[in-house]
Amino acid sequence: MNDMLVLKHISEKYQDKTGEVEALKDINLSIRRGEFISIVGPSGCGKSTLLSIISGLLKPTSGEIYIAGEPINGISDKVGYMLQKDNLLEWRTIYKNVILGLEIRHMLTKENIAYVTELLKTYGLFEFKDKYPAQLSGGMRQRAALIRTLATRPKLLLLDEAFSALDYQTRLAVSQDVYQILKKENQTSVMVSHDIPEAISMADRVVVLTRRPGMVKSIYETTFDMEEREPLKTRKMPEFSTYFNTIWSDLDVHL
Ligand SMILES: Nc1ncnc2c1ncn2[C@@H]1O[C@H](COP(=O)(O)OP(=O)(O)OP(=O)(O)O)[C@@H](O)[C@H]1O
Ligand SMILES: [Mg+2]
Repeated sequence: MNDMLVLKHISEKYQDKTGEVEALKDINLSIRRGEFISIVGPSGCGKSTLLSIISGLLKPTSGEIYIAGEPINGISDKVGYMLQKDNLLEWRTIYKNVILGLEIRHMLTKENIAYVTELLKTYGLFEFKDKYPAQLSGGMRQRAALIRTLATRPKLLLLDEAFSALDYQTRLAVSQDVYQILKKENQTSVMVSHDIPEAISMADRVVVLTRRPGMVKSIYETTFDMEEREPLKTRKMPEFSTYFNTIWSDLDVHL
């Protein structure tokens, strides 16, 4: 089987003081190994809820999740999660930060340390390994957070608005950077983003959710007539505006 993630009939209903909130309804989705998926949808439609369910932090009210063919019940070691804040620990050096996930999981083997060192070298952070997070730029911090997440070799990487705390220019550069890292590592990834251009430029497929309760409204395979895809360059391609207009109209935003 070539699917890394399979979601079958995922629904979620929250209970709160005022009653029941139906967040997600019958989500079905399969993601291939090495694929990069973006999820877009109106605010509050259940995107973060879906990532929490995939990570095993939240139990779905109904439905099943499989990662690499195995059912997920509860928090899974197979998943790496990156949020908006990089959550680097300010009192630890960059090196101590990037090995944190390995340390917590008692996975500090020679082999894993060599892998982290290689990641730091390949992605330009090796010379900064003894610096503290405050001494790095926003883009470099985000790269360090990514290396920390990749260090445990998750089968699946989840990104929830991971770049939205960055200024616009850094954000463009980081999306290009992250895309190239993830493709090189053949990392299967699911990214939630409010930013439609960011989603189109990075994703192999863009999944559009409806208003709450979130259901899959449409899925677009984004292909560009270029030899090697570069997120920044896709923005200048004629196909780009077609995808943008279609997705924008699917989102049904009332101005
Ligand atoms: N713990 C909770 N208890 C009750 N309702 C919740 C809880 N968490 C989320 N919700 C509700 O479920 C819905 C989906 O929330 P979620 O955070 O998944 O949406 P989202 O698509 O990520 O939103 P945003 O685009 O603003 O990040 C919202 O209406 C939210 O208020
Ligand atoms: Mg959210």
